Amino acid sequence: MTPVLRPATADDADQVAAVFHRGWHDGHRGHVPDGLTQRRTPEAFGARVALRIAETTDTTVAEVDGVVAGFVMVSGDEVEQVYVDRAWRGTGLAEVLLDEAERQVAEAGHPTAWLAVVVGNARARSFYARRGWRDEGDLPYEVVALGERFTSPCRRYVKDLARD
Ligand SMILES: CC(C)(COP(=O)(O)OP(=O)(O)OC[C@H]1O[C@@H](n2cnc3c(N)ncnc32)[C@H](O)[C@@H]1OP(=O)(O)O)[C@@H](O)C(=O)NCCC(=O)NCCS
Repeated sequence: MTPVLRPATADDADQVAAVFHRGWHDGHRGHVPDGLTQRRTPEAFGARVALRIAETTDTTVAEVDGVVAGFVMVSGDEVEQVYVDRAWRGTGLAEVLLDEAERQVAEAGHPTAWLAVVVGNARARSFYARRGWRDEGDLPYEVVALGERFTSPCRRYVKDLARD
């Protein structure tokens, strides 16, 4: 597996949205309010991703054999999204994507990166801990989905980035 990392384009939007939708439900279902889960539909992710890619350049995809296998979204010092599609979990692709996200945060001049991870998302928390991120405690994360406000029980993870 040799992934190609590149900025997402409008042509990637449908694939990114599909990876986002599947991964979101795998990582969040049962760990966030049910009303939020019900609003996380394929259509909602489709609209969100299309807008994000149209308005920003902060989505990076990992392409494997012409397929979007995962992506990251980085906003300032926040690693906002880290998603690997089911077939590539446990393959090392997540490490490649997270390394790229950390590189982007450092390149933008931030000494420390942070992210929010849902308390019950054990797989993601284990992954971040293995990659040197530390758990800094509770972070109730406010989310608005289709006009409704929800609070997701999250933890704040941070990582100090090595600078040359
Ligand atoms: C989070 C994610 C990027 C991690 O990538 P990955 O390739 O699955 O990560 P790995 O398999 O290398 O590591 C996950 C760890 O969780 C463990 N694990 C596997 N399945 C698990 C499960 N069901 N519950 C708890 N831990 C699990 C693995 O053994 C591994 O443990 P280790 O770090 O002690 O070796 C990926 O699982 C994913 O995209 N998940 C869905 C979307 C998501 O939740 N994104 C993060 C949002 S903050």
